[in-house]
This record gives sequence, structure tokens and C-alpha cells, in this order.
Amino acid sequence: MLGSGQIDPSAMTRMPYVRRVLDESMRLYPPIPAIMRMAAQDDELCGVKVPANAVTLVMPWIIHRHRKLWTDPDRFDPDRFLPENSVGRPRLAYLPFAMGPRVCIAAAVAIQQLMIGISVLARKFRFRLADGHEVRPAGAVSLRVHEGLYMTVERRRGG
Ligand code: HEM
Repeated sequence: MLGSGQIDPSAMTRMPYVRRVLDESMRLYPPIPAIMRMAAQDDELCGVKVPANAVTLVMPWIIHRHRKLWTDPDRFDPDRFLPENSVGRPRLAYLPFAMGPRVCIAAAVAIQQLMIGISVLARKFRFRLADGHEVRPAGAVSLRVHEGLYMTVERRRGG
């Protein structure tokens, strides 16, 4: 950190826990929960015929919670992204930014912005879910929170 509210860009590499929290948040709540693709030609996928022009859905929401890919998948556990806990996990088990030729062109920028946002805010404030508020994810093109996300914000001592 440089001064109040300023972040030294090189600090990014020294915030592996913030990165794991971000990765785990996007695993359980992928901002794009479903990615649509149209078959350019007749094809076959895992033995299923896919005719040309068929619309297929790749669903990070389901893949990220698949029991064959993740241990205890509904539990929020940033440490599952530690290198030693990621050994053997298929590359396509985690795809918040999609994959392949149409991967999100701004993934690196988005990660950097989010890490700055999380670290600046979490350093100064403590966020708690408002009493009695239930978080209900709502899938549209992007993932939303149905009826908002009500939080109690408290300034940290010295923050
Ligand atoms: C957490 C933040 C973000 C997530 C999770 C995300 C995720 C994605 C995903 C899943 C796709 C593929 C969509 C598809 O093919 O149907 C995509 C594509 C794209 N994203 Fe992002 N994105 C994020 C932030 C951004 C930002 C900040 C920008 C621009 C400033 C951006 C620009 C784009 C563009 C231009 C494409 C289309 C790439 C192409 O089709 O060649 N994204 N993003």
C-alpha cells in the first residue's frame, strides 16, 4: 500500500489470499452463469449428436458446483485454490471468463480491478449480511441478486 486508498500495483502478487477469495466467489457465483454457443456444423459431444445451428449451453454455474470436479462444492473455501489443492483439477472445471478463442478479453483487467476493490474496502470496512436478509441469486445474462444485497457496513478500527 502507498497511502490511504492507494495501492502499489506490485502488491497484487503479494495478495494471494485476496485472489483466492475472488476465485472462490466467482466459482460459487459465476458472474456469467451460462455461456451460449451455436454449432457451426453437425457435431457429436460425449456421444450426443449436435446438429448444425443447435444452441448449446456451457454452464459455469453447474460445472463450478459439480461433485465430480469439486470436493464439498457448496462450501465457500478459498483454500481450494491453493496450488497444492488444485493438483489434478481439470482446466475446464473453472471458467468464469469462458475459455478458448472467445475468452473474455478483459479477464486480467477485471481481476486486477476486483482485487483492488476488495482489498481497499475490506481493509477499511467490515461487511455483514443484514439481519434477516436472504441472498437469492437470480440468473439472467449475468448473475444478479434477487431483490438486492442488504449489508451492514462497519468501519474497522484504524481503517
Ligand atoms: C468479473 C468480470 C468479468 C467476467 C466474469 C467476464 C466474463 C466473460 C465471459 C464468460 C465471456 C464469454 C461470453 C460468451 O462468449 O458468451 C466474456 C466475454 C467478453 N468480455 Fe468479459 N467478463 C468480465 C469483465 C469484463 C470487462 C471489465 C470487460 C471490458 C472492459 C469485458 C469484455 C469482454 C468482451 C469484449 C468479451 C467478448 C470477447 C469475444 O467474444 O471475443 N469483460 N466475458
